[in-house]
Amino acid sequence: MTKTIIIDKKIKDYNKIINVSGDKSLSIRWVLLSSLADGTSRAKNLLMSEDVTAAIAAIKKLGIKVNLHKNFCEIHGKGINGYNYKKNLRINAKNSGTLGRLILGLLINTPYPIKLIGDKSLSKRDFKRISDPLTKFGAKFKLKKNRNLPLTIYGSKNLKPFYYEENKGSAQCKSAVIFGGMRVKGSTIIKAKKSRNHTELLLKHLKLPINVKNKKNYDLIKVNQVKKIQALNYEIPSDISSSAFFIVLTTLSKNSKLLIKNVNVNRSRVGVITILKKMGAKIIFKNKKIYKGEKKADIQIKSTNSLKPINCPIKLNSGAIDEFLVIFLVAAKAKGISYFKDLAELNQKESPRLEWGAKILNKMGIKTITTKSSIKIFGNPNLDVNKNIIIKDFLKDHRVFMTSIIAALNFGGKWRIHDSDSIQTSFPNFLNIINDLKNND
Ligand code: S3P
Repeated sequence: MTKTIIIDKKIKDYNKIINVSGDKSLSIRWVLLSSLADGTSRAKNLLMSEDVTAAIAAIKKLGIKVNLHKNFCEIHGKGINGYNYKKNLRINAKNSGTLGRLILGLLINTPYPIKLIGDKSLSKRDFKRISDPLTKFGAKFKLKKNRNLPLTIYGSKNLKPFYYEENKGSAQCKSAVIFGGMRVKGSTIIKAKKSRNHTELLLKHLKLPINVKNKKNYDLIKVNQVKKIQALNYEIPSDISSSAFFIVLTTLSKNSKLLIKNVNVNRSRVGVITILKKMGAKIIFKNKKIYKGEKKADIQIKSTNSLKPINCPIKLNSGAIDEFLVIFLVAAKAKGISYFKDLAELNQKESPRLEWGAKILNKMGIKTITTKSSIKIFGNPNLDVNKNIIIKDFLKDHRVFMTSIIAALNFGGKWRIHDSDSIQTSFPNFLNIINDLKNND
């Protein structure tokens, strides 16, 4: 149920160990790949949020049986050509860009047209970035205003591979084309600006025909047609994007210490750690392990009382793309001016996040200068927000909501933050963990 959360006290010091929910990117990829596997795949610690349950609902509509147990999820794949469904199918991706975009790659050979819809936020987002490349395989699309949902995909039997240059640094675009390439005879080649590489690692782990050459500024990926996917048992590690809220909370609070267990620390995801460490945050990885091609570790964070501003190198952007809102809070407390640039993609997210980052900071009394792709933040280490702040009408962007909660707990003031149900998309347990940290006994 949607509620307004009121926060009017800073968080007290704490020393705790927490577990955050499963990684969203890995959860959605596991659901989609398992839906095409031969036999039963099982996942533990699958993220049980609306984005992932929407993925489960989507594959069920495609004729795949799913059993949700208390501690694990089972997907009964029927092979690479196992989708079976009636005409006039409609799939609802709800709030999830990852689901909406990736699934289209798997549907380029659909025998009947399929309609894809989403919620208000997803319906504002760019799907031309996906339909354009998938059209090159031979699929056809009809989109609202040539760009948005609802869209209809018309699959084809005459698919051909092509050469794709992905230059936004979007893992969703790259992954949709990789998934498409799995359906097509011949080699699909992708030259992709660096972005998260979970799809490539999962395909490699499954011994599917993918080859990746990592170059300095881009990756060269070759995918061939996939004939068979073996069932995949997976224990999803925790999400670094969800962890980031607690990493920042602890960095900014006084005399606190936190250990976050078993987090995915894939190199293409840890930009937030690199950026915060450059700003002076005290973060270390413990107990590092490799699991099915992915890195994981426990993350230890201690409070910091002197933070430096950063001129953030653009090569760190893609690895921190979902974390900038909370990173901006650290810049607000740093002594000096921080500069983040080449971030036009941030305004393509669940809400225009560069704008929302500036709005939250301005409400707190922090000066910013923003353009369409950059923000300068004039930090103030002595900031004490001693006023009423209302955060509302943010298209229920989960990360705007959670960032506002962290700001309220660290900077003081009386905050009324609307639409608490927004966390259901990625991190339903968020407020429970906050309450656990507040009750430090
Ligand atoms: C994601 C890719 C990123 C990220 C999103 C999840 C993924 O989006 O913002 O939350 O799982 O592939 P873009 O591909 O649009 O950068």
